[in-house]
Amino acid sequence: MKTGIITGASSGMGREFVKLIMEEAPAYDEIWLIARRKERLEYWTRLYGKQKFRILPLDLTSALDMQVLEKELKEQKPEIELLVHCAGFGIMGKIGEIPAKEQSEMVDVNCRSVVDLTALVLPYMERGARMIYLASSAAFLPQPGFAVYAASKAFVLSFVRALGAELKSRKIHVTAVCPGAVRTEFFNRAAARKSLPAYKKLVMADPEKVVKKAWKDSLAGRQISVYGNMMKLFYLAAKLLPHSLFLRFM
Ligand SMILES: NC(=O)c1ccc[n+]([C@@H]2O[C@H](COP(=O)([O-])OP(=O)(O)OC[C@H]3O[C@@H](n4cnc5c(N)ncnc54)[C@H](OP(=O)(O)O)[C@@H]3O)[C@@H](O)[C@H]2O)c1
Repeated sequence: MKTGIITGASSGMGREFVKLIMEEAPAYDEIWLIARRKERLEYWTRLYGKQKFRILPLDLTSALDMQVLEKELKEQKPEIELLVHCAGFGIMGKIGEIPAKEQSEMVDVNCRSVVDLTALVLPYMERGARMIYLASSAAFLPQPGFAVYAASKAFVLSFVRALGAELKSRKIHVTAVCPGAVRTEFFNRAAARKSLPAYKKLVMADPEKVVKKAWKDSLAGRQISVYGNMMKLFYLAAKLLPHSLFLRFM
């Protein structure tokens, strides 16, 4: 069974990936959809029929739920051709202002799930398969006021680059997607305590376009996908200039 796995399939960019795959890459025998909100995942079966999807309402921070996934993989033995890991969240605010529990949750979803999920699926990945991980442009620099989130995404970016190098000989392509602000439900939680800077509202990208670009970059075997000229410039500047300079102005 040629299989694709998409996490975060209940919202935002994960949903856009499901849509894009159903429209542009319908050759998968089965697509496994992961997120906590089951009713949102079932939307896809109502839209496209049940036979194509395996609905897995899992919390990626729960050890028990990860065991459910592990068992499913052992039983089904899928040939995984695609993993798209979109599950993640951020909370804006200073480190001292965000409850420690929520900061750890951010690390659990954004970092630990990346490691756990990768370890679980790798034995089932085919030569020529692709892995796409949602990092963020927040990975390029430390961000006061969004510190844990930015650090968690720097972890994802570093992890993905190393993973890509390790998997080169198996011809498995790994891409980190690093957009700036994207118009999704992400900000319902991210900006619950501290409102989003006005300029970010103005430059928010369309999730469909970000995902299309990520898909194209993954097909081209690119390690990093950065959407939009502003973010490309930011990426370059963050590579060339000392980070202390940015931190002084941020
Ligand atoms: N929007 C942006 O500005 C932006 C920019 C750069 C990068 N990103 C990154 O892009 C990814 C997707 O974000 P988005 O903008 O599409 O946000 P979103 O619309 O809020 O979607 C987040 C997804 O993650 C899932 N999720 C969260 N916690 C989970 C958990 N514990 N277990 C399983 N699933 C979980 C949610 O599903 P359930 O709630 O149903 O579990 C949801 O499907 C994230 O990694 C985010 O950090 C976002």
